[in-house]
Amino acid sequence: MDAGNLLPLAVEIAREAGDLARRRREDGVAIAATKSTLADIVTEADREVEDLIRARLAEARPGDGFLGEESGVEEGTTGVTWVVDPIDGTVNYAYGIPHYAVSIAAVTGEVAPGHWTAQAGVVFSPAAGELFRAARGAGAWLGERRLSVSTPSDAGALLATGFGYDPATHGPDLDRVRRVMPAARDLRRAGAASLDLAYVAAGRLDGYFERGLHPWDHAAGGLLVIEAGGTLWGSPGGAPGRDMTIAGSAGLVERLRILIEG
Ligand code: IPD
Ligand code: CA
Repeated sequence: MDAGNLLPLAVEIAREAGDLARRRREDGVAIAATKSTLADIVTEADREVEDLIRARLAEARPGDGFLGEESGVEEGTTGVTWVVDPIDGTVNYAYGIPHYAVSIAAVTGEVAPGHWTAQAGVVFSPAAGELFRAARGAGAWLGERRLSVSTPSDAGALLATGFGYDPATHGPDLDRVRRVMPAARDLRRAGAASLDLAYVAAGRLDGYFERGLHPWDHAAGGLLVIEAGGTLWGSPGGAPGRDMTIAGSAGLVERLRILIEG
């Protein structure tokens, strides 16, 4: 598999998709529907941006599979599947907070975290004009800068996390925050998991943990962390997933895992 061909395509489409999201945001955003809970929203822009990404990929690589947050799964014939979150950070987007991203990954193998091999990943923040990219074995990059995860100082780790949309999960999420705070210098909840992972890759955050992620939340960002020399751990089965995702340097991930598991 030549990941070299997949990354430029992901970069080109992420830029076009991000520009569309930014223009729609400037026009004004309306919530189109609620999903799993009242807090879990989708805007017309989420759907339009995903449609654009899906159409561009179908034009460029007609046999590939697709897994997108808004339009679901379609099996392919080439062994490559694109895992896409058209707008990660939808609540930020709807409120006018410019911290949101387009996340596009190309994976091979079974389309399940822990079974797939991520070949290429892009996380594009249109409002910041920052495009984080990685290809398997070729490092993680922001522009000309090769990215590398950080090692926390004696002051503790700058951590990020997120909370699920289901109010029933908030109590356990907050208990988990209490357990990790002894390792933290401070904690961020910025609202876009793909950017949390990209920031870990860039050393802007020392570590990140969250329960409840979907494949499209971490497929591209997870590759960024690994290609930046970091560790990505999760459960079930050690792969990032619904039960837990932890990212950072190997030592920090192990410390967080022990604290989180109590
Ligand atoms: C959400 C964001 C958020 C995270 C949630 C995700 P969405 O994705 O990444 O930071 O805490 O778990 O579902 O709904 O904005 O695409
Ligand atoms: Ca989304």
